Amino acid sequence: MDTLHYAPEPQITVLDTGGQYCHLIARKVRDLGVYSEVRPSEPPAAQIASRKGIIISGGPNSVYEEGSPTVDAGIFSSGPAVLGVCYGQQLMARLLGGVVEKGEKGEFGLALLDLEAPSLLFEGVANHRQVWMSHRDAVRALPDGFRILARTSTCAFAAMGHRDGRLYGVQFHPEVVHTHQGKEILSNFLFRVCGCRKDWNPKHRAPLIEEKIRDAAGGRKVFFFVSGGVDSTVAFTLCLRALGPERARGMYVDTGLMREGETEFVRDIFRGDAASFAVLDAQERFLGALAGVRDPEEKRRIIGEEFVRVQEEALESGHLRDEGWILGQGTIYPDTIESGGTVKAAVIKTHHNRVPGILRLMQAGRIVEPLSSLYKDEVREVGRELGLPAELLDRHPFPGPGLAVRCLCAASAEPVSQTAEGWLLPVRSVGVQGDSRSYARVLCIDRFPSPEANLQQAATELINTLSGVNRVVARVGGKVPISGMQVAETSLSAERLGRLRRADAIVRRLSQKSGFDRTVWQFPVILIPLGRPGTPDSVVLRPVDSVDGMTAQSVAMPEVLLSAIGEELLRLEGICGVFYDLTHKPPGTIEWE
Ligand code: XMP
Repeated sequence: MDTLHYAPEPQITVLDTGGQYCHLIARKVRDLGVYSEVRPSEPPAAQIASRKGIIISGGPNSVYEEGSPTVDAGIFSSGPAVLGVCYGQQLMARLLGGVVEKGEKGEFGLALLDLEAPSLLFEGVANHRQVWMSHRDAVRALPDGFRILARTSTCAFAAMGHRDGRLYGVQFHPEVVHTHQGKEILSNFLFRVCGCRKDWNPKHRAPLIEEKIRDAAGGRKVFFFVSGGVDSTVAFTLCLRALGPERARGMYVDTGLMREGETEFVRDIFRGDAASFAVLDAQERFLGALAGVRDPEEKRRIIGEEFVRVQEEALESGHLRDEGWILGQGTIYPDTIESGGTVKAAVIKTHHNRVPGILRLMQAGRIVEPLSSLYKDEVREVGRELGLPAELLDRHPFPGPGLAVRCLCAASAEPVSQTAEGWLLPVRSVGVQGDSRSYARVLCIDRFPSPEANLQQAATELINTLSGVNRVVARVGGKVPISGMQVAETSLSAERLGRLRRADAIVRRLSQKSGFDRTVWQFPVILIPLGRPGTPDSVVLRPVDSVDGMTAQSVAMPEVLLSAIGEELLRLEGICGVFYDLTHKPPGTIEWE
């Protein structure tokens, strides 16, 4: 069932061939004022023939591999102008009769673009501008009717164009910031090549969305589960404004797995509408279901199922039995699309937003999703317009299963062991190596991770050379030397969750006070069962920079701040050591479980 769309007909369709950049392309197009959508790569050409333009995204496959994503070749002659980016260019070349070959060593990083021939795509773009490349395969021979528009010192076909001026391909990524005039190139494609008109501005959208909510609700009332995250808070606030407090009700489920002060934080946001907002204390239920559990996936499963049960009970027993009520959700645009690059995001979100009870309501036309056309940045823009506090809108992402997946457990006691490279900690964490997830040990190097030491590079090299290790940490400080630490048998308990909650609160307070939190994308704090009797646990700091969580870089922290955090954490009850995660993603994941 389609949820309501609060947006114009798209002028641009981005075809997703599995790259992590497809949403970035669509967002950049919207930033230029043109409404765009993302679709899996293979809709029949006729379905998107009314668009002004089509952009084929980059992707990780090779065009000549069996089963790799493709497009309906009819799109090249069905009307819209087409731009192929990276894999998209290769696909266009191959489908139109050109040749694509495996590159010898590929090209990753920055290059200078030499413009070869005048074209609408590069109008106003200076020669020798920096572009960002990330490809192994490359076009080797052009299809009929095409010519080279630009090259780099290592890529002869950095850009190509058809003589009719409707088909273009670029090997580099115009959507990333490292391509210096990427915005001009995309803008040329939209306005000069496709003839798009500006029809999109996320500012001042609130009144329009509110009107649509009133239409969708008819005379009915709306019930919401509010998580404290940006999306559900903005969506519920829109409903409150659209329908008034009499016709909108929000419920926050306190799982006991939230950060310190979270319940109060959410309550405070809705203090003006206290009668429309309720907190359901479900801590005992969740902690009871998790008692004694160690395995990360088991934790996720239990939390997911418990949440579904709480949600369905609330739906069954409360308002939703009555036809006079519908359910509101904070689902945003990327979560509504099944596409190669966003499979994981979809899986993470769907178990809460698409449980059977909710699917039944969708089929009955009893769901309203006011943000289903918007990207996160656009949701923040709407939130600002609604006057929601920056403290909420600029929050870091926080995983649904909460602190439970940041509180590591161990099935048996084990000592640390020394190797030539450092100390092997008998703690297993999740990583991504190749296409699959790995579950391996952590190497600790006994050096202070000051920014000058630049240990991240050393960590990458260590992981590449050592087998059985997918993560490297540095030691910030400890009550005993690493040699005196061991992993003890542990499971998830209220005591350890409390310890983690206090540690996380200290890190957040100091990181916010110093402004460091605004320089990172996410900052997980993890509790590991490494210590000694009396102080059985250690804390790991994991600040990362990222665009969308698919890849991430471990970032260095100013030494003064790190020392202050380390000292305060070591004064906490039960904490024996403090470590700093130096691992990029890949090979490590952002979270440890
Ligand atoms: P990883 O650890 O896979 O995380 O690098 C990528 C992003 O996803 C978040 N994450 C989750 N979010 N439920 C969620 O709602 C989960 O089970 C979950 N696991 C990871 C993580 O915080 C990061 O932003």
